[in-house]
Amino acid sequence: MGARAMKVLVVGGGGREHALCWKLAQSPLLEKLWCAPGNAGIASVAECVGVAAEDVSGVVAFAREQAVDLVVVGPEAPLTLGLADACRAAGIACFGPSAEAARLEGSKSFCKQVADAVGAPTAAWAEFDEPAAAREYLRRVGAPIVLKADGLAAGKGVVVAATMAEAEQALTDIMEQRVHGAAGARLVIEECLMGEEVSLFALCDGRTALPLAAARDHKRAFDGDQGPNTGGMGAYSPTAALTPGLQAEVMNSIIQPCLNEMARRGTPFTGVLFAGLMLTASGPKLIEFNVRFGDPECQALMLRLESDLLPLLRDAALGQLASHTPRWRDDAAIVVVMATTGYPGAYANGSEIRGMDGLRDVTVFHAGTRMVEGRLTAQGGRVLGIGATGATLAEARAKARTAIARIDWPEGFCRSDIGAAG
Ligand code: AMP
Ligand code: GLY
Repeated sequence: MGARAMKVLVVGGGGREHALCWKLAQSPLLEKLWCAPGNAGIASVAECVGVAAEDVSGVVAFAREQAVDLVVVGPEAPLTLGLADACRAAGIACFGPSAEAARLEGSKSFCKQVADAVGAPTAAWAEFDEPAAAREYLRRVGAPIVLKADGLAAGKGVVVAATMAEAEQALTDIMEQRVHGAAGARLVIEECLMGEEVSLFALCDGRTALPLAAARDHKRAFDGDQGPNTGGMGAYSPTAALTPGLQAEVMNSIIQPCLNEMARRGTPFTGVLFAGLMLTASGPKLIEFNVRFGDPECQALMLRLESDLLPLLRDAALGQLASHTPRWRDDAAIVVVMATTGYPGAYANGSEIRGMDGLRDVTVFHAGTRMVEGRLTAQGGRVLGIGATGATLAEARAKARTAIARIDWPEGFCRSDIGAAG
């Protein structure tokens, strides 16, 4: 494909996709950028297309019509539906794994099998299709214990149970009440790992894994890690905890062996492998893989990435990553998510967000917004990501907090402690 200008289609419509579009739009190699479906913020850097992310045939038809050179898939759902396979079958390069390779995220038990096959350090585990057998196992191993719906559950299918009562309740909810639907037909039960949690992102071209950067997410809804699990209420990068030595250990003992195993099985992994890790007393262990950038982690990563993103994604898609070394700014980056009150439970759409003009020292990524008659409105649980960089995390955090104080959105909330302990 050389250095000729490229037409790129990003698939998705959240803060992650806004950050990817924002960064791609800065590329001198870019000829044209679309985003399907995008959102009100993405519309300032890309042309939004009225095609849903999960509409596989619609996305491929659009990409063909417009002679798109590269499709970049943000979320996991279209990947598990086979969007990357459909693009490749149509002769269009795609940044994202095949449906088979996306099972690393789509099935917790598949992920554990791959890790076990190569001896990658991960929590001890067992899987169950029958509630009775699962209950008996639980009673045998005791709490604390972790229960996971096997399938995709929008990041909400995991319960870290401190007591047996919580564990048994989670079993009932997941397997019997099916609160996550069919995702709970199979239950994975895992040893509870202790330590600091970090995420490492690696670009993969099927064979080569290139570490990007580490980030720390904040999954609970409220300050002090209280409240329900969410998709992520804020992130920062880099993390002091994942030293260069530990990062190398994770690449050598977890990411590269699992990538090799996927290739060996005839289902090579292309895209970004997101390793959720626990830094335990006996070394880093894999909690889970995701097959896409984290959101909001991606926003923090894009604020720090100095290299052009476009050739990195293109060469991952083309199996040519080996020659790349991404460059990063020395700065710390933070993203604080502003969400609609009620999230991750029920919430109302359509509230107006004011005070966005003249914000200084921040980059605002939109996660769920829509322009309605010239007014910016909230359209989703997570709505904005307030991003900032600074020489230190504290400096970046102060910039984000100053901007948040100026945003006039009574129906929204955010955590005040993102990055405070970092
Ligand atoms: P997951 O969706 O697998 O990332 O799980 C959500 C969250 O549950 C993780 O970010 C961890 O904080 C926690 N978690 C998952 N598995 C374990 C485990 N084996 N031990 C301790 N915490 C875990
Ligand atoms: N922020 C965590 C995720 O994207 O899964």
